[in-house]
Amino acid sequence: MADLDLPLRQGFAPDAGPAHGAGPLPDEIPITLTINGERRALHVRPWTTLLDLLREDLSLYGTKKGCDHGQCGACTVLLDGERINSCLALAVMKDGCEVTTVEGLAEADGTLHPMQEAFIEHDAFQCGYCTPGQLCSAVALVKEGHAKTPEEIREYMSGNLCRCGAYTNIVDAIQDVLAKEAAK
Ligand code: FES
Ligand code: FES
Repeated sequence: MADLDLPLRQGFAPDAGPAHGAGPLPDEIPITLTINGERRALHVRPWTTLLDLLREDLSLYGTKKGCDHGQCGACTVLLDGERINSCLALAVMKDGCEVTTVEGLAEADGTLHPMQEAFIEHDAFQCGYCTPGQLCSAVALVKEGHAKTPEEIREYMSGNLCRCGAYTNIVDAIQDVLAKEAAK
């Protein structure tokens, strides 16, 4: 059988470095993030995702890791008020941003966010694994103002999967908050 002579992918070659024109990666890079209202000066590795930074380095375990591939929404957080999958974001690329996780939705005095109240009222969870992501996503959805009907809520929440199938109650909770917002 002929020997396979596969070329090494550039950047993954064992000796890739200055001799090949690319300097070695720095171990850590200084960044600043405001996380749940608190400004944090951090040193992060270039390959650390925002999700891993939150969970592994900052012990903010509310944000969940499901697929780690941008397909389940369990890792949803708010970045400058907009929802993102934190598993798909490199922390170093978010230098200077404001991050809100599920831990930051309630008021400092413990008063729950209206969306958290609505989820409780409508029994919009079972195991709760997807719930932090659902909550962050739902808060952003209300702010975005696109969704008015249950069908639109389902569409705009379709990036957040729930293995327990609590979808009907999640939609009810979001509809409740939308109605209260509209009545203001
Ligand atoms: S863990 Fe990020 S989308 Fe699934
Ligand atoms: S409540 Fe269990 S995965 Fe959604």
